Amino acid sequence: MDGRDLVHSLRFFGTVRGLRAARSAWRRYRTDAVGLPARGPERARVPGPVTEAEPLPGGGIVRFARSELRIMVAAGGAVFWGWDGARPEPSYALAGDAPEPDTRAGLEPDKDGGWRVVSERVRVEVSRHGAIEVRTPGGVVLRRDLPPRWWEPAQGGPARWVQRSEVPADARFFGLGGRAAGPRLPDGTYRLWNTDPKGSFAPGDDPLYITMPVQMVVSDAGTHLAFHDNSWDGRVTLREGEEGAGSGHDRPGTSEVRMDGGPLRCWVVAGTPARVLGGWAQLTGAPALPPSWALGPQHARWGFGSERAVRQIVAGYRDQGLPLSAVHLDIDHYDAHQVFTVDQQHFPDLPGLAKDLREDGVRLVSIVDPAVKAEPGNAVYDSGSAAGAFVRDASGREVHGVVWPGDCVYPDFTDPLVRQWWGDLYEERLAQGFSGVWHDMNEPVAFTPFGDMTLPRSARHALEGRGGDHREAHNVYGLAMAQAGYEALRRLRPDERPFLFSRSGWAGMQRYGGTWSGDVSSSWPGLRASLGLVLGLGLCGVPYSGPDVGGFDGSPSPELYLRWFQLGAYLPLFRTHSAIDAGRREPWEFGPEVLAHARTALLERERLWPYFVTLAHLARTTGAPYVRPVWWGAPEDRVLRDCEDEFLLGDALLVAPVLDRGTDRRAVRLPRGRWYDTATGVAYDGPGQVLVDAPLSRIPVLARAGAVLPVQGGDGVELEVWAPAAGRRGGGLVVRDVGDGWAKAKIERYASRLEGGQVVVERITNAGRVKTEVPARVRGPA
Ligand code: GLC
Repeated sequence: MDGRDLVHSLRFFGTVRGLRAARSAWRRYRTDAVGLPARGPERARVPGPVTEAEPLPGGGIVRFARSELRIMVAAGGAVFWGWDGARPEPSYALAGDAPEPDTRAGLEPDKDGGWRVVSERVRVEVSRHGAIEVRTPGGVVLRRDLPPRWWEPAQGGPARWVQRSEVPADARFFGLGGRAAGPRLPDGTYRLWNTDPKGSFAPGDDPLYITMPVQMVVSDAGTHLAFHDNSWDGRVTLREGEEGAGSGHDRPGTSEVRMDGGPLRCWVVAGTPARVLGGWAQLTGAPALPPSWALGPQHARWGFGSERAVRQIVAGYRDQGLPLSAVHLDIDHYDAHQVFTVDQQHFPDLPGLAKDLREDGVRLVSIVDPAVKAEPGNAVYDSGSAAGAFVRDASGREVHGVVWPGDCVYPDFTDPLVRQWWGDLYEERLAQGFSGVWHDMNEPVAFTPFGDMTLPRSARHALEGRGGDHREAHNVYGLAMAQAGYEALRRLRPDERPFLFSRSGWAGMQRYGGTWSGDVSSSWPGLRASLGLVLGLGLCGVPYSGPDVGGFDGSPSPELYLRWFQLGAYLPLFRTHSAIDAGRREPWEFGPEVLAHARTALLERERLWPYFVTLAHLARTTGAPYVRPVWWGAPEDRVLRDCEDEFLLGDALLVAPVLDRGTDRRAVRLPRGRWYDTATGVAYDGPGQVLVDAPLSRIPVLARAGAVLPVQGGDGVELEVWAPAAGRRGGGLVVRDVGDGWAKAKIERYASRLEGGQVVVERITNAGRVKTEVPARVRGPA
């Protein structure tokens, strides 16, 4: 038990829930003792020398004395390899069927008895002992996997394995899901096991709710993403390399992936960052497009307490002239914390509340927790029990755990029939007037005063009919729940795009919606971690996320609250939220100065709404996140790779939030090109670093010279055009809101240039460049 566990258990003991949780932890321990026999002695194995090879479309099979390797280059350019017969499927990450092979690529003999597969974008070389090198078409090494090693229990059972890899000495690692230490991942070991960090988290707390075996590696040689498609518990140890280390030789960076079981298989996508994320979205699915209201400001709290309180807050926003798009109701609106119920005493007429709010342009979003109170008479429990929907242990008994309502059972979302059953329950939420759902506690959580806060590892799961246990199902539990929710909303309300975001998830979760930070601590380090999370998740293909503005657990100072608010205004999910015992989060609770500046941030978010709509569509069509690291367009710029406290919002804007107390100026790293401070119009030329004013009233936002972006003007959407630098051109893409249904959106292309000292904006059409009818407002000195 570590210190944190101790504090947690002290807080817990003495409460009824604490006693129940202790009992359930003990039960979990016993269940595993029976259900998972000790591994016993193990035998180590490596592939051994190559024996033969068999070409197949896109690659082939290379056989070794003690294993075989299947390699395939897929049509989109991604490379797959799997050992010991592993194939791309089955997979929770892939969207639909595995991609077709690129039939132009094939297996060819290579030097020293090895084999290679050459394709348009990568070249893969397999050595005679089973090392695998991924090279650029020009031959530069992006990643070198050493021959893997397995440990097999003599008495049978899943083999553990380790895969060591080397990357260039200058490479930086990103990704692995949502990590508080990110976006650039410092040297260390990262566990792959979705985890509720108990209470709140800050940088240094790891793992968190979303872990993914997805590494984005950026080096001078190029950018690549490596995905070990395996949902088991594991650990990734990363160590950056060093150039000119010891006697002038480079020491490569290293990654070591260790898994407790499951297939050893890997996908690699290489190219520019944009191409890599495009390829990743092709493989694992296009990000769901949120309804456009979900791109507006949202307000949540655990413990509004009553319908009246909700109405008062919405009225507060209106009276203060603050835009608001949605209010989220937490577990306190349930009857005794039970999912799919309503506390009729405090929320006597939810449909009425939803209707009134809707007239004010405000939607209601509902929390949905997976755990179901195990009590006969609870309708959800009764119907789920009858349907055999709940996770069972090895001897066939329903597995229990303690969550908010008390003693609970857990739907097995890895069973398609359970997803259907569960999904039908969302009808009740829609009937209550909710417009979207917020999935929580789906790591899944079972409170415990010590050890792992989740289900026993021996708990049985359907795993789409294959059958297996929680060791394999744990990390995909939230993802499968998201699938259930998303498919249900599509079924039940086919004319509207679902709005769903989920605390836990895994590779591919973007198909069903977004996520949020979870319980980030109300502290300056928490503020910093919340930016790292959003950036890191974006690089794992999950573009829609955001933090609890103000932090979850405490009472932020007015300054911290304001700085968080100002950052949040530029993130995809812009939502204030806090714990039941935390301070208020309404902008007017922090004094008139904060209120005025928060209003400015909210109004700017409203003004940028068409730009957010555009970015949401582009994320769907290209896989590019709205919020990108500053190296996005220049991964070869090493200084930018290490810059973690600013970000690009689409192509046009660079946002430099204030992440430290008492700051009124900050250094801003500029990528190449001219940038305008949007507040002052002052022009700066990158690459380089400049000092920019950051008074309490705003955070620095810079616009790229030449950028064309859509903003909300008095009469609808207009174009904001930032003067191109002399001799340069610019442009931008615009996608109009098509409502909250499924109408197809068109991408409009604009170009900007200087002509006789005047800025000219044109629309690029199939017929060529035409004058634009959209009003354009030119900014920045020409
Ligand atoms: C979890 C969630 C938090 C929510 C609380 C009560 O801690 O992360 O957002 O408010 O549960 O439902």
